Amino acid sequence: MTKVISPSGVAAYEIKDGIAWVYFTRSEKRNCMSPTLNKEMGDLLAEIEFRDDFGVLVLTGEGTSWSAGMDLKEYFREAEAKGLGAIREAQAQAYSWWRKLRWYQKPTIAMVNGWCFGGAYGPLFACDLAFAAEDAQFGLSEINWGILPGGAASKIIRELANFRNSMYHAMMGENVDGKTAAQWGLVNEAVSADRLEDRVTEVAKVLLEKNPVALKATKDAIRRVGEMTYDNAEDYLVRAQEAANYFDNMGRKEGIKQFIDDKTFKPGLGAYDKSKQPVSE
Ligand code: ACO
Repeated sequence: MTKVISPSGVAAYEIKDGIAWVYFTRSEKRNCMSPTLNKEMGDLLAEIEFRDDFGVLVLTGEGTSWSAGMDLKEYFREAEAKGLGAIREAQAQAYSWWRKLRWYQKPTIAMVNGWCFGGAYGPLFACDLAFAAEDAQFGLSEINWGILPGGAASKIIRELANFRNSMYHAMMGENVDGKTAAQWGLVNEAVSADRLEDRVTEVAKVLLEKNPVALKATKDAIRRVGEMTYDNAEDYLVRAQEAANYFDNMGRKEGIKQFIDDKTFKPGLGAYDKSKQPVSE
């Protein structure tokens, strides 16, 4: 399909072979996030979330940037000039699309093609997986212009990186490249820029073969259990599996059948053949 562009042209998507490619399309401003971009990206994500013609979403940036963080002019200066109501509204618009993405129905992949600063750590963390170009640049530049890493950026760096690297990154305002970002755990892998799209496509295709109900339950579980005690997690996971069975009670039975009875696949080596799965009762 052709690219569908948001009303102001700041975001776009296209669906190809089961993958929704979602773009920041404000490259002339290095894809920094204005209130308009946040509103239109939120609308775009909501509009396509439950379509059945894609199973994986990739978020990437047009041009040299993934996203240069919050728009210092429109998100900060102009909103602040309008008063507290406008500030809170701008924050709510940004935080709400990142929250939507954290709990998105489909698996999500951040494909970090270039600059990734400050507020962009929100959508970065919101994506389930992340792959970067080796020469992409990641920075908590807040300290360089005199604020703390807000909009959850401080929380995110502590979730993803260790204490010493988080402290250095936030206090020094120095950028790290994609390779270091992978070593620190900000992304899964860094690959050369010319291989980035192929690698992300390869990963997305593997995800497309998995049971989608199990994928949604799994991605939510991995996010939720981080804040739970062992016993709470054990209990939550029992309930989560039972809830997943409500939406798909044939998938795992088919998986067991193909392994134990048909001997046509081995769960240790890949996914069962979903096309043979009867529809849930
Ligand atoms: N907010 C507002 N405008 C921005 C932002 C931003 N975050 N980032 C880039 N722009 C604008 C520039 O002002 C410029 O606008 P103009 O063409 O009207 O002059 C245009 O985008 C292009 O930017 P350049 O700086 O010319 O691009 P260059 O490729 O040389 O540099 C870089 C890219 C390093 C990303 C630089 O633009 C930059 O430092 N941006 C700010 C990064 C940042 O610190 N973001 C905020 C993080 S903190 C937070 O998000 C809360």
